[in-house]
Amino acid sequence: MAWDPGQYLKFGGERLRPALDLLARVPVESPARVVDLGCGTGSITRILAARYPRAAVTGLDGSAEMLAKAAKEPTPGEMIAWEQADIATWTARHKVDLVYSNAALQWLKGHETLFPHLVDQLAPDGVLAVQMPRNHGAPSHTLMEAEIARRPKLAERLKSKPRSYPPGEPGYYYDLLRPRCAAVDIWQTEYLHVLAGEDPVVEWTKGTALKPVLDALEPDERDDFLAEYKSACRNAYKPRPDGKTLFPFRRIFIVAVK
Ligand SMILES: C[S@@+](CC[C@H](N)C(=O)[O-])C[C@H]1O[C@@H](n2cnc3c(N)ncnc32)[C@H](O)[C@@H]1O
Repeated sequence: MAWDPGQYLKFGGERLRPALDLLARVPVESPARVVDLGCGTGSITRILAARYPRAAVTGLDGSAEMLAKAAKEPTPGEMIAWEQADIATWTARHKVDLVYSNAALQWLKGHETLFPHLVDQLAPDGVLAVQMPRNHGAPSHTLMEAEIARRPKLAERLKSKPRSYPPGEPGYYYDLLRPRCAAVDIWQTEYLHVLAGEDPVVEWTKGTALKPVLDALEPDERDDFLAEYKSACRNAYKPRPDGKTLFPFRRIFIVAVK
């Protein structure tokens, strides 16, 4: 899928917060190798490089658009290797001390093989740190799926496109990782994002889950889809008296030590 870095970064502050909350719980002091899987525009990759100045840090992403934006930003003092690759088939050339991934692995299917594969890329005592949205039951998502379901041709076209998939229950990841790891720490947080502007929830999803849907619509179908989805979201997320919109957003965090 072609990503739109500008749209994604409209809510850069809100999207960075869980990435930092994840990093705060990573029990690694001086790693030699760090890989940021699905690094996007590299905001958190640069923070990883600053936190671990002696580490070889790689930002890996499948999107040429996101990587182009990442490589353009200045990274004073820190050397980061940007690599275009598919996470699904990525194998580390040398074992990695920290595999970090913020808001990316929900775009991949087959977690029952992906997560063990990622643990296999870790050095002894290495850490796998992952954050994924678990908000697929929220109106922002269910209303979008309802609009898709009303359009069978669109639903058919989307079957072959990458989508943002609902991650499993916390216990699913615990059972998957515990036999392969010395310690597994999992928690969930529901953020309450305070969003400004018109149709802010739709603006948010346009940068992520809604993107492949809009791409799969013909130009003449897009306006109708957006009008219906916006109207449904306006009902579900009414502005507060101060004009701001509250957007509850649940995320799952996983920190596994090999
Ligand atoms: C929501 S963005 C998150 C970006 C960044 N981690 C952040 O927190 O700002 C998801 C990123 O995952 C990347 N991605 C999704 N599926 C991928 C795959 N199979 N292989 C590599 N990158 C992938 C996308 O290109 C996108 O840049």
